[in-house]
Amino acid sequence: MGISSERNWSSASTSGRDTGATTARSRWFSRLQDARRILDRLDWWRLSEWADSDMWSFDDGDAALLLTPLDLAETDALDATRAAVAWLRWCAVADGASPSACLATVFRESEARLAFCGVREVWCIVHPSDWIKPYLRDLGYRIAERLLTYEIEPRRAPDASPFLAGLQVRPAQVADLDALCALDARAFDEPWRYPPVLMRRAVEHAFATTVALLGGALAGYACAVLHEQNGHVVRLAVQPALRRRGIGAGLLLDIVARLARAGAQVVSLNTQASNRTAQRLYRRLGFAPVDEKLPVMRKVLAPEAGGGIA
Ligand SMILES: CC(C)(COP(=O)(O)OP(=O)(O)OC[C@H]1O[C@@H](n2cnc3c(N)ncnc32)[C@H](O)[C@@H]1OP(=O)(O)O)[C@@H](O)C(=O)NCCC(=O)NCCS
Repeated sequence: MGISSERNWSSASTSGRDTGATTARSRWFSRLQDARRILDRLDWWRLSEWADSDMWSFDDGDAALLLTPLDLAETDALDATRAAVAWLRWCAVADGASPSACLATVFRESEARLAFCGVREVWCIVHPSDWIKPYLRDLGYRIAERLLTYEIEPRRAPDASPFLAGLQVRPAQVADLDALCALDARAFDEPWRYPPVLMRRAVEHAFATTVALLGGALAGYACAVLHEQNGHVVRLAVQPALRRRGIGAGLLLDIVARLARAGAQVVSLNTQASNRTAQRLYRRLGFAPVDEKLPVMRKVLAPEAGGGIA
């Protein structure tokens, strides 16, 4: 996702409650949003949507950092979190500033505030070319996992229909959100879960979020995005009790076919190197591994005295 325009920032930041603070933020962002060193992991959000959040840390306009607890979004109430995990979402260092020094300041401040609120770990997906990688290492972040990438040309994918017998597959609706989040929480460990606000974004903004129903109940779901001719499946999950009967294959092939009808020439997906079940499924359906491994870095935070939420 791209970086928002300056106009975007100004309009968002003047709507804040604390005019002095938001004016200062607006100045910082104006300086930083064109910096060469920017890390953007906002996924479904635009930068301006976070303008008034209290989760930012700044270092005299030379660096800005946004670490958000997993369960929080579109809110500025950091002390309301109950998540043990936060994700690094946005970071920039002004051109001409020393990254080591100012990153140390903003990370120290952000991590201390998160630890005070009970967050125990910060995670970040790092692309091999990301400027921030060596700095994260210096700041105590270590590789905790690697994501593998697989790709398929839709015209080579098998037909979905044999796998879909007895299932109803349709686009997800807002009314499905509770059931989707419950399934997601059963299917994924905490860092990878979609909390309700993220799931809503997926349902409302993805190219497609589809649900498979068995006897009217949610059996599984898939979600994909489409950028020009590149489709990417961002989510696939099946109820634990309903696995190994073809539902995962059906959902995946169905969403690949939807992407193909919309013009996708290639469809990719990622999975954790440790997720052998998913990898077997992808290979069996004709997905080929791509020579790109994305490190997922993690830092375990020291607990803050007096911090934490009951
Ligand atoms: C990965 C996941 C979506 C697969 O869903 P699924 O419905 O079990 O997938 P399928 O049934 O199509 O295939 C799984 C296996 O069951 C086998 N199978 C399918 N139908 C079968 C049947 N009728 N009888 C026996 N085995 C069957 C498949 O051959 C496959 O075997 P394999 O492991 O040797 O490849 C599911 O395990 C899941 O939700 N995992 C947690 C979330 C996750 O990891 N998501 C993907 C990564 S982001």
